[in-house]
Amino acid sequence: MKTKICDMLDIKHPIIQGAMAWIGTAELAAATSNAGGLGIIHPFTERGLDKEIEIARKITDKPFGINIPILSPGAKRAVKKVIDEGITVVTASVGDPVKFTKKLQDEGVCVIQVVTNLAHARRAGEAKVDCVVASGIEAGGHPGRDEITTLSLVPQVIDALDIPIIAAGGICDARGLASAIMLGAEGVQMGTRFIATDECIAHDDFKQAILNATDVDTTVIGRGIFPSRVIKNEFSNRFEGMDEKKKSREMLTEIERAKAAMLRGDLVEGSMWCGQCAGSINEVISVEAVIKKMIEGAEDIISNKAILISEKA
Ligand SMILES: Cc1cc2nc3c(=O)[nH]c(=O)nc-3n(C[C@H](O)[C@H](O)[C@H](O)COP(=O)(O)O)c2cc1C
Repeated sequence: MKTKICDMLDIKHPIIQGAMAWIGTAELAAATSNAGGLGIIHPFTERGLDKEIEIARKITDKPFGINIPILSPGAKRAVKKVIDEGITVVTASVGDPVKFTKKLQDEGVCVIQVVTNLAHARRAGEAKVDCVVASGIEAGGHPGRDEITTLSLVPQVIDALDIPIIAAGGICDARGLASAIMLGAEGVQMGTRFIATDECIAHDDFKQAILNATDVDTTVIGRGIFPSRVIKNEFSNRFEGMDEKKKSREMLTEIERAKAAMLRGDLVEGSMWCGQCAGSINEVISVEAVIKKMIEGAEDIISNKAILISEKA
């Protein structure tokens, strides 16, 4: 399966491993890139961005990207690091795409903006980003305030912009990839599926929580503040009962709760950032196996449907 983003990003398969704070390390990114997708390093890891890039360079000779949370205090430094290191792809999120796009593109960096509504997508279009990830409310992590589903958002963003669109949120297998392609997307970005892999450094108990999760086991906390989709636990249940002021205070340090869940396996008080598709994830496998199954399965689905349609004609 080859789409427009394969040439644009110099990758074999149109699958991006979404940025994930704390667990988006060199090992996960390199495994994805080595398997033909695009791995993304997150600047917030225990080792820090410089070390992650250094390690990634030792374990892959394929392109990988860096995530830049535009509003974060370290964003300007991360942009400089990307340019100095000759990194070729940035996924930018949480902030105004106009801020760094031109500077990065002038240095030959391909800029992919993550958006969660149409207004933000149009802003990314004005900033002349190279492509956009349209991410629905199903997604793990911070899925956006407007709660638009992937199925509704992706076609609207495709209609609004004349650049390649990548679908994210709720995609974890071949059916998801095939559907995204049918919607007109040029590829997919996944987070939750990549947590349940051998190469992800997430705590085993957190990975097990993903395997155990069913369709109704995630919820969104921090609505109207900075929403996070998490697996329900004692903290998320208690959060529901807090007054608005306390909720706002909690969300300021929620990233520490996410670290506790993901790296220390605190399933009681941690924030277990995870997407709704967890209900479909039943095994921890290698990144290579995830990508191989998705690509082969999606190619089968698409060609079998085409045969069915032509047989009917
Ligand atoms: C644990 C976790 C952490 C995440 N952290 C970030 C982040 O820091 N920045 C970002 O742009 N997206 C983040 N995301 C979103 C992913 O990059 C990706 O777009 C999303 O997971 C796709 O939806 P899915 O979880 O249904 O696959 C995170 C997702 C998860 C599950």
